[in-house]
Amino acid sequence: MNLAVIGTGYVGLVAGTCFAESGNDVICVDIDESKISMLSAGRVPIYEPGLGELVQRNLKEQRLVFTTNLQTAVAESSIVFIAVGTPQSVDGKANIEQLLSTARAVGSAINGYKVIVNKSTAPVGMADQIKNVLAGSTTYPFAVVVNPEFLKEGAAVEDFMKPDRVILGGDDPEAIDLLKELYEPFVRTGNPILVMDTRSAEMSKYAANAMLAMKISYINEVANLCEKFGADIGEVRRAIGLDRRIGPHFIFPGVGYGGSCFPKDIRAMIAMGEPGLELALLRAVEQVNERQKGILVEKVMRHFGRDLSGRTFAVWGLSFKPRTDDMREAPSITVIESLLKAGAGIQAYDPEATEEARKIFSDRIRYHQRNYDALKQADALLVLTEWNEFRRPNFQYIKELLKQPVIFDGRNVFDPEELRKLGFTCYSIGRKDG
Ligand SMILES: NC(=O)c1ccc[n+]([C@@H]2O[C@H](COP(=O)([O-])OP(=O)(O)OC[C@H]3O[C@@H](n4cnc5c(N)ncnc54)[C@H](O)[C@@H]3O)[C@@H](O)[C@H]2O)c1
Repeated sequence: MNLAVIGTGYVGLVAGTCFAESGNDVICVDIDESKISMLSAGRVPIYEPGLGELVQRNLKEQRLVFTTNLQTAVAESSIVFIAVGTPQSVDGKANIEQLLSTARAVGSAINGYKVIVNKSTAPVGMADQIKNVLAGSTTYPFAVVVNPEFLKEGAAVEDFMKPDRVILGGDDPEAIDLLKELYEPFVRTGNPILVMDTRSAEMSKYAANAMLAMKISYINEVANLCEKFGADIGEVRRAIGLDRRIGPHFIFPGVGYGGSCFPKDIRAMIAMGEPGLELALLRAVEQVNERQKGILVEKVMRHFGRDLSGRTFAVWGLSFKPRTDDMREAPSITVIESLLKAGAGIQAYDPEATEEARKIFSDRIRYHQRNYDALKQADALLVLTEWNEFRRPNFQYIKELLKQPVIFDGRNVFDPEELRKLGFTCYSIGRKDG
């Protein structure tokens, strides 16, 4: 099939590349010229495991093309995916400007029957708005389908290639059949393609993200209560996870959720309820998360005092989660800003996110190429992202490098018992050490 994908970010690039990998001819469009020239040269502007090889192979085999020319891309394609950003507006609502301008541009480029598929996360009713915009700018027939994306950054290629489910919202049988055919290679293992109306498809995406964020805030709240009463969240997590109604997934405590989706999607969902429907649970999910981002700094201040001037902290992990370079709403931003404000210096290490972090902190913190280098002469180590490479470090060496053997483990990656035996003072989340 001939496809266009508009918006070549985390979602559009992965989707376009994976569609090319399954034999389609894909034109990826973006307004960012530097991104397009990088991609055309086979260089991927984001860190996403496995994506680079796929982009290079499909470029070489000429199934994947990158361009800034939306007009030609739409004209040459039968299916047009939209995967542009829907960031948060100042009032918390999803900003749909990129979607609307893309819809206008697509409308004026249509030159025959097209299936327009919205992959961006957008408020319920967006498909109807897109239909109106398209109807205002073309007389050719078209169908609009909502196809929310559920990939996880850090495992995006794998998720896209083997989705738990594919959701298609729409009522044009020809369009739905075409998309079922397109997705058929991705659901060989029997995972379902669910067809529903556009509004239910749009709501499904928000409902899933809010549920996941709720699990995180819930376990964080239980973790804080564990600390208060000397219980261990690790034990509690295992105990409740064995209940099949609860399950073991996504109930790990930490320093809060971040990223480009959960925070903005929760706020957009709260805004969707207004006026008239107060989404109290979701407000609480957000409040708990905001508080959780400050938990580790409170522990640091309990140990070192509120004035941290003259102190230096090593930070391992900057990205909002492992296996990505994405810094959008990363808890590390809140933690580091609070430490800087209290007068501390920061020596940071992240396997992939340094370049993105530099855009946020510039030269206000120091960046290191090796995790151990960040520890030299630091007063303590803070772990903010659970990259695999942090799990089994050389603790003896860490002890030699730090001024004092103190670790604040914001993701519970270390065994506190083992650390104590080695002479460390260790603070983590929801465990007896507090
Ligand atoms: N990142 C994720 O993990 C994820 C997962 C599921 C869904 N989503 C949703 O998918 C959408 C895209 O997210 P993302 O993380 O890929 O965003 P992103 O910011 O990484 O990428 C968006 C891209 O769209 C481009 N763009 C903006 N306006 C354009 C236009 N008029 N024409 C062409 N290109 C344009 C931007 O230059 C950018 O490259 C959002 O709605 C998001 O909520 C994201």
